[in-house]
Amino acid sequence: MSTAEPASIPLCNSADLVDGGLAVPFDVKYAGQTCRAFAIRYSGAPHAYLNRCTHVAMEMDYQPDRFFDDSGNWLLCATHGAAYLPDTGQCAGGPCRGGLVKIALSESDGAVHWHTAYNLQPVEF
Ligand code: FES
Repeated sequence: MSTAEPASIPLCNSADLVDGGLAVPFDVKYAGQTCRAFAIRYSGAPHAYLNRCTHVAMEMDYQPDRFFDDSGNWLLCATHGAAYLPDTGQCAGGPCRGGLVKIALSESDGAVHWHTAYNLQPVEF
């Protein structure tokens, strides 16, 4: 498979993503580097982002796979409290600079897939 061809990669079952609940982690190759990523559900729709804060490039979850605040309305970075909008990844408060890197998802027949892009590829084992 050429790395330029977009592909759709199985990620999880739809039921694994609960609105405002725990994330499902996965790994991607972003610009040639293996990076952690995560998928969440918000207002019914699945979304996925690189697990990389835009303040300092570090992983954000304060407990494994926990990104939502108690209200279920924000994705938080544990380190200095940056807040991101769950549906766009845009910075909504705190020290973040710009938005999270979004990863395209699709959902059908009870399954969620993520989509590759020119700078987002599956990790090869
Ligand atoms: S590293 Fe995320 S807020 Fe500072």
